[in-house]
Formats: sequence, C-alpha cells, structure tokens
Amino acid sequence: MNESESFFGNPDPIFADKELLRVSHLPESDRIIGRDTELRKLANAIKDAQRGDTPNNVLVYGKTGTGKSLCSKYITRDLTEAAADNGVKIGVAYVDCFQESTETQTVRTIAQALNSPEETEITVPHTGVSTSDYYRRLWDILDARLDVGIIILDEIDKLEGDNVLMQLSRAAEAGKVTESTLGVIGISNKIRYKDSLNERVKSSLSERDFVFPPYDANQLREILKSRSDAFREGVLDEDVIPKVAALAAKEHGDARKAIDILRYAGEIADEHDDDTVKIEYVDEAHDREEQARLSELIAKQPEHSKYLLQSLALQVQDTSGKNPPIPTKSVYSVYERLCESNGVDPLKVRRVRDLLSELAFLSLVEQERKGRGKGKGAHTVNQLVDDPEVVIKACKSA
Ligand SMILES: Nc1ncnc2c1ncn2[C@@H]1O[C@H](COP(=O)(O)OP(=O)(O)OP(=O)(O)O)[C@@H](O)[C@H]1O
Ligand SMILES: [Mg+2]
Repeated sequence: MNESESFFGNPDPIFADKELLRVSHLPESDRIIGRDTELRKLANAIKDAQRGDTPNNVLVYGKTGTGKSLCSKYITRDLTEAAADNGVKIGVAYVDCFQESTETQTVRTIAQALNSPEETEITVPHTGVSTSDYYRRLWDILDARLDVGIIILDEIDKLEGDNVLMQLSRAAEAGKVTESTLGVIGISNKIRYKDSLNERVKSSLSERDFVFPPYDANQLREILKSRSDAFREGVLDEDVIPKVAALAAKEHGDARKAIDILRYAGEIADEHDDDTVKIEYVDEAHDREEQARLSELIAKQPEHSKYLLQSLALQVQDTSGKNPPIPTKSVYSVYERLCESNGVDPLKVRRVRDLLSELAFLSLVEQERKGRGKGKGAHTVNQLVDDPEVVIKACKSA
C-alpha cells in the first residue's frame, strides 16, 4: 500500500487543532470574550483566599453556554497561581454534581481532588468508607496540605439533599478545619435554585450571587473567531462564522451551541471531501447540533420524565404529527401504560405534574393553563416542543 492509501497517514485537510473546539477546552484569558465584568466580580468575591483567608461563598447562575463553568475554572486557576506567588497554597476541587450527586460521592470526589497521598499519607479509597469518614479525611487533607480549598460544585441543583452544602459552608466556623479554610462556588442554570435551600444553607452559601447574561451575536462572533485557529488557514469561508453566530444568538446566546455548530460544519466539509467549510454546511451542522443536544438533555432526565416525554410523543404521533396540546390527564394515562409495560410502578399524579413542569422549564415541553368554563376550574395542557420521533429515539437510547 502506498502512502496515499493510508487511512490515517494524511494530515487533516480541515482541522489544524480540533481541541480548540472541545467544550472541555479551557482557553487563555485573552480568549475569554465579553466576560470581564463577570470575571472581575468572581475574583473580587474570592480574593481573600489569596492571603490565606476565607473567601466568600458564591452562587453563579445563567443559562446554558454562558461561560459559567469556564469562568469559574479559569478564575480559580488564576487565583491559585497568584496565591502561590504569596506562598499561599490553594487547592481547587471541581465536582460535576450531575455525575456525583449523592453526599458520599461528592465528599469523596472533593477529598480525592484535594489530596496528594505522598504529602498527607491519607488515602481516599473508592469504597468501604462511611460518609462521615470521608468528611474526616477531607478535613484532615485540607489541614495537612492546604491553606485554602476552593470547591466548585457545578450543576449544584443536581445534588441530592443539602447536607454536603451545610457541612462545607460551615466547616471553618464549626472548627472542622483549623489550619485551613475553604470556600464554595456553586453553579446552576436554575435561577430559582436558591429558593429550594433551607435558610441556614442559603445564607452561608450565597454570600454573593451573580447571573451570567447570554451572549449577543457580536460576542459569539468574537468567541468563534478566537477559536478559528482550530481550522487550517483559508479553510473557513468568511461568511461561516457570522452565520453560526447569528443562529446561536437567535436562540439564547449559547456559546457552546455556537462552537458545536462550527465544529460540525467542519466535520461535514470533511465528510464531503471538501477542503473548505462552506456556508451551505451550516444549516446541516445546526440540525446535527440540535439532535445531539436534545439526546444529551433527554439522557440526563430521570426515568419517569422519559416515560412522560414518550407518552406525549406517542400521542403526537397518533394525531399524525398535528402536535395538539394534550391535557395532563391523557399524558398520565399513556404514561401509566408505559410504566406497566416496562415493569415499573407509576408515580402519583402530583409528582407527574412536578416532572412535567420541570420538562417545561427545560423547554422540552410547553405548558398552558386552560379554563374549563365558569365554575369548572382549570387544567393544564402540554405540548411537545421537538420532533416526536427524535424524542422517542433519545428516550430509548438513553
Ligand atoms: N466568553 C467566552 N469566550 C470563549 N469561549 C467561551 C466563552 N464562554 C463560553 N465559552 C465556551 O463555550 C462553551 C460553553 O461554556 P461553559 O461550559 O462555560 O458554559 P456554562 O455556562 O457552564 O453552560 P452549562 O450551564 O450548560 O454548563 C465552552 O466550550 C467554553 O469554553
Ligand atoms: Mg457548565
């Protein structure tokens, strides 16, 4: 086989450094666009840690793709470096609370992230340790090797119970740690998350809270431009970035969406064996992004929410795609049947109503209150937002 026949040997014709278009990629500060105010506010809230003092606990809110995770990671890295120059040792633990949602998982992840077994001679085994023992080890680790621990709890609303928040936000005050101190940065896209907390946790956890606003089309364009090094020179047609930015701005100014569409556009060009990314690939890239995002969002939902979505989707399909508003009562009866055929006990109507309104919050379902006429009370109708087939596929594959 000669060289040109190799499946891997040729350099990528489109991408020079695809890593730049990954969500996990942490750009340098000069590549973080339009978040100066937010970064400054965050820095201000936690700056006492630079001297080894207790930082404020912070809650960061904002819609998806507004740079909350990025800015929190960036600012804590910057803080750690600045503090090291002062001889202050800061450790940062990043927890994705969607993955580590129980109290034990959360504490264990934090302890593991802050530990350095050679330094502390403390181990944090994966199993066989009680929750209270994980806490003890965490406090010992903090005191043994750090001046300040900063704990980023991303998707904090996914935590089960608020005991861990109580423990973390009061550890220094309660004397659990004596040689060190700690601060929490909680991140959520549920703007009303705070309301669900008990008063004590609320007051200590949200000493500061910030809302990250969505990006406008200009900012999205700058964000995309700053990542255009991901492509080989001259590969991107000049109208591609403005179009992607405009599409993402039209929904809610989501930087992740913009970056994903740009990456898909590159992949589509590659699949067409084209050596330029043309504007006509952008619409297809947008469709791919929507599908991928929907599947990911649905995959994250609890089992019963998936049955509810399927119940709605099946009823939409029965009306040959007319997508009529469906009363909660009918959603419930098909849901009950789905539960039965899957061998699970259906939830009570009340709980189903809660789940449906959560789905409405996530824009997977649209809800409306309808009056039944005088003296007859009102009822809620539900409408599926996305294509029923795509929804059913996503529910089943998750
Ligand atoms: N201001 C910015 N400059 C450059 N890149 C950005 C900016 N804001 C966000 N990004 C990029 O967009 C993507 C999404 O950002 P991020 O993950 O921080 O959003 P988020 O607000 O945490 O969203 P979610 O609520 O869905 O977790 C990431 O790849 C991030 O690097
Ligand atoms: Mg995030």
